[in-house]
Amino acid sequence: MALVRASDEQTLAFAHLDVRKMPAHWLMARLGKRVLRPGGVETTRWLLRQGEITANDEVVEFAPGLGVTAARIVAHHPAAYVGVERDETARDFVLKALRAAGYGSLRARVLQADASRVPLPGESATVVIGEAMLSMQPAAKKRAIIGEAHRLLRAGGRYLIHELALQPEEIDPAEAARVEQDLSAHIHVGVRIGTPSAWRRWVEEAGFSVECLSTAPMRLLEPGRLVRDEGIRGTARFLFNVLRTPGAPRRMAAVRGAFRRNRHHICAVAIVARRR
Ligand SMILES: C[S@@+](CC[C@H](N)C(=O)[O-])C[C@H]1O[C@@H](n2cnc3c(N)ncnc32)[C@H](O)[C@@H]1O
Repeated sequence: MALVRASDEQTLAFAHLDVRKMPAHWLMARLGKRVLRPGGVETTRWLLRQGEITANDEVVEFAPGLGVTAARIVAHHPAAYVGVERDETARDFVLKALRAAGYGSLRARVLQADASRVPLPGESATVVIGEAMLSMQPAAKKRAIIGEAHRLLRAGGRYLIHELALQPEEIDPAEAARVEQDLSAHIHVGVRIGTPSAWRRWVEEAGFSVECLSTAPMRLLEPGRLVRDEGIRGTARFLFNVLRTPGAPRRMAAVRGAFRRNRHHICAVAIVARRR
């Protein structure tokens, strides 16, 4: 079974957390899943294409997680990359991903910090990007993080986000609350999301002009998306780890059940905005 054997790193990461209670994104990470955002790598590719990162850019990534997007960003050879990640284990993953991508510490750093209070000077970035990290924040914290992106960016800088959204636009507020509650109860993280128009409004209210917005189906744990995000080897490794980890089959089935049950009411949204 060499094909699907988990590395020590995967076995150990987040192993201190209880499988039944831990946030679903850390459980997936522990089981070897690397892409933890609702629209998968295809939406990330779209975002990075629209963001047009060049060698002149100074990029700040909020919540890089396991470093999948970080590696894609540094492939554009920006002048600088700074990750801002709250979790220490994830921070170490990102550093490894950057080293594996051949990006030395001179141009790339990862700070262990909260994205609502980033220890960097104002107007020090030309691009700020964050994926699957605002959806889990209460309204005030969301505003603080989007405001921090605004503070960090120079005028004309780009803010790129990729988050979970509610659909359709005219969703009944009671139905929206039920969806948020159902997802929160199963992924064990408070889900606070809006429709694509609400996301647009939140970004505009912070002083950005939205240049483009795209939506995609939310299929994080569906077979086709798993293979596209993780590759065949990665998918096999993930499934093998689910099966051999006590409690994981039941928990992952519950998470996937919540995504499936609510599939007509959730989608991924990606936005490219410019600081006014
Ligand atoms: C669902 S994961 C997404 C990771 C990665 N962006 C991706 O799309 O694969 C959420 C990430 O957000 C980070 N995070 C959550 N709140 C944060 C905050 N206030 N500041 C910095 N990182 C945060 C978590 O530690 C975790 O790495």
